[in-house]
Amino acid sequence: MPGLFADLPLNNAPTLSLPRAASGMVAHIICHSDPERFALLYELIWRLTQGEARLCEIHSDPLIHRLERMEKSVRRDLHKMHAFVRFRKVEQDGDERFVSWFEPEHFIVEASAIFFVERFTSLDWAILTPKGSLHWDRARLTIGPPARAEDVPAGDAFEDGWRRYYESTFNPARLNPDLMRSHMAKKYWRNLPEAQSIAELIRRAPSRVREMMEREAQVPRKRDPQKAVEQMQDQAPHSLAALNRLIMRAAPMVQGGTRAVLGEGPLQPCLMLVGEQPGDMEDIEGRPFVGPAGKLLDRALQEAGIERKKVYVTNAVKHFKFEQRGKRRLHAKPNVGEVKHYRWWLKKELDLVRPQVVVALGATAILALKGKALPVGANRGPTEFDGQCGFITVHPSSLLRMQDERDRRDGFRRFVSDLRSASELGKDTCAARENSALAARNG
Ligand code: URA
Repeated sequence: MPGLFADLPLNNAPTLSLPRAASGMVAHIICHSDPERFALLYELIWRLTQGEARLCEIHSDPLIHRLERMEKSVRRDLHKMHAFVRFRKVEQDGDERFVSWFEPEHFIVEASAIFFVERFTSLDWAILTPKGSLHWDRARLTIGPPARAEDVPAGDAFEDGWRRYYESTFNPARLNPDLMRSHMAKKYWRNLPEAQSIAELIRRAPSRVREMMEREAQVPRKRDPQKAVEQMQDQAPHSLAALNRLIMRAAPMVQGGTRAVLGEGPLQPCLMLVGEQPGDMEDIEGRPFVGPAGKLLDRALQEAGIERKKVYVTNAVKHFKFEQRGKRRLHAKPNVGEVKHYRWWLKKELDLVRPQVVVALGATAILALKGKALPVGANRGPTEFDGQCGFITVHPSSLLRMQDERDRRDGFRRFVSDLRSASELGKDTCAARENSALAARNG
């Protein structure tokens, strides 16, 4: 029987036309370490050219089945080589070279070359393996003979870098040694600098997970705000104390916030002041407006002839939203979504406190009370919040932020005048209320 190459001139390389699926398979199987690979490929090509052109599609055929497994093994080996080659830096006559030792399972050294050339084009490197070597001098690739592990210089600081990188990205909570072994078979470990850390990382994983869980338990949880609002709506607090219990039990709906800071003051006051959110001091003390902005507010109330203890003081957002910077907790402005999620509480609070006039201090309070954003400057003065008599003025922090002394003094004077006007607005009704309460007490 004539052979596969019978009609081909022996001094020329044979030209065969193969289906596309077969040529990919052949290119990989040629690299396989099985000594039978050439005989198997001969059989494949013979059958393809002798009337079985679609042979590669018949996965149940014993030859195809075996070849597919071989192809897969070579592909996996290539993948591992791309992933696990680690270079050591070597100084040679003032020049920098990078050398690596790798032990592939198959004859894949040449097939892997293009990957490393494209990846490390600007470096001078060599990859030594027992199945051949690659040498790249930034311009030319040379395929060299097999090498020995001793040909590679000893480890250096470059490898320490790899080890530290691996340790810092290792997540003990995701420890799955079986999966690790399947991704990085043990045979590769001895040539990977980071592998030296694996045993210790596995040993320490349980205690590191415990530490992570303890730390996690101390971080305030941000829950699903939408769900939280729905749950709140299922409950209908009929007193301020019941509402406050709900607020105290609920988790913060902003980042940070260690505790809820409740509103404080008498029910049915002439004025209810609504700020933005508690600050660092308020979060520590658990009371609204006790920090620098609170001190300024106290001074303004005093100048306006208003006793703070007769005013109800609260915030649109009940938790301190902040970003941790070292030891400092920096105020972070609540966003529109967050303000709206807290709105349900504020509206309930307003219904239960029943002030004569509610004063929005700044833009966040306006957003919370109106349900939409409005600029403070253009809307300063008397207003209505859903039928409730209201007043818009600036937030005292905006005065603290003013750089110019005169601006600050003028701003403060205007703020005092706003507070006085707001209290005038509600005075008549307040006086009428107090009179009727007095009359009721006197029978
Ligand atoms: N700023 C606010 O808006 N509220 C406070 O309670 C403190 C500062």
